[in-house]
Amino acid sequence: MKSLSEKLMIESSGLIKNYWYAAARSTDLKKGKPVKAVIMELPIVLWRNSKGDIAAMIDRCNHRNAPLSEGKIENDCIVCPYHGWVYNEKGQCVNIPSEGPNTDRIPNKKVELFPVIERYGLVWVWMGREVLPDKEPFEMPYYSGEGWKNYYMVTPFDNAVTDLVENFMDVPHTVYVHKGWFRDKKQICIKAEVERTPNSVLVSYDQPNDSIGFFDWMINPKRLPLKHTDNFYMPNVTRVDYVYGNQEKAFIITSTCTPVKAFETKVYTLITYKLGWFNALATFFLPWYTKKVIDQDVWIMKIHGKNMQTFKTPDYKSTQVDFMHVYIESLRRAAETPDEQPTPQPIKKQIEFWI
Ligand code: FES
Ligand SMILES: [Fe+2]
Repeated sequence: MKSLSEKLMIESSGLIKNYWYAAARSTDLKKGKPVKAVIMELPIVLWRNSKGDIAAMIDRCNHRNAPLSEGKIENDCIVCPYHGWVYNEKGQCVNIPSEGPNTDRIPNKKVELFPVIERYGLVWVWMGREVLPDKEPFEMPYYSGEGWKNYYMVTPFDNAVTDLVENFMDVPHTVYVHKGWFRDKKQICIKAEVERTPNSVLVSYDQPNDSIGFFDWMINPKRLPLKHTDNFYMPNVTRVDYVYGNQEKAFIITSTCTPVKAFETKVYTLITYKLGWFNALATFFLPWYTKKVIDQDVWIMKIHGKNMQTFKTPDYKSTQVDFMHVYIESLRRAAETPDEQPTPQPIKKQIEFWI
């Protein structure tokens, strides 16, 4: 068991915490029911009042530290399940039942409140406790738009954020882990450009004849050229775009990773697509297909994460297709330990690999 003096993950996350993190889907937050989220080992309770506003507060009652998320919402306040202390949406304690009518005895009893915002169907919590929000949450692409459809998948993974975003960007694994489901091995050479900016890693593939999924012949019968890009945005987002022709059709996978613990991450994946007449069919078929593919990644990330915990420190041998991984690691490490790591310089490389 962790001793009380050990640091929580959030306390050793450097600048990584100064971002918005997805804590729930908007639809998860029903009026009158608190929802628990754990972000960087910090339990947070989210709840909605009768006006629809959301409060995000530390999931620890001021009194004896019971979890407020197990309590009730009454009269637009959250009531602790243990002795019934009552907190309003500002985190202020407004009633202590055992004090009877003596409300003058409670003025300074407040629980920690976190900035919270609703965007793109998600509830985001700002985790930078010493810094006020200075940016918006990551813009989930084409969340609304003519011809576009979307849905979220929420997936718990047993691995760390860095390894997960690398997996979501990784092409060579697709012909092994997703063999027959996403891409098949053809032993062809692929060229790509990999660029690191101060806060992103951008990969652009030169593979216009690529085909993805076993439904490719249906969505791209005219064999329009495919533009494939894989982008990582600090500290925890990947956006994978497959765009056909002049954006006549497109399929985009955007994943925002919420660290729960060192080797536990909750991933909110937005699947956005514009597939013309195939849209109607895709509504039924894509959620099943994408769940199948993501479950294959859940499996490989689980056994990979287990090995990482066994061996304690990574000992990676990289080839040129792994540049993107190395760049992602360099950006995240610099943000985690800003006093120890130099800021990585922008760089661009051309690579080639076989799949
Ligand atoms: S622990 Fe919450 S009221 Fe006592
Ligand atoms: Fe994968």
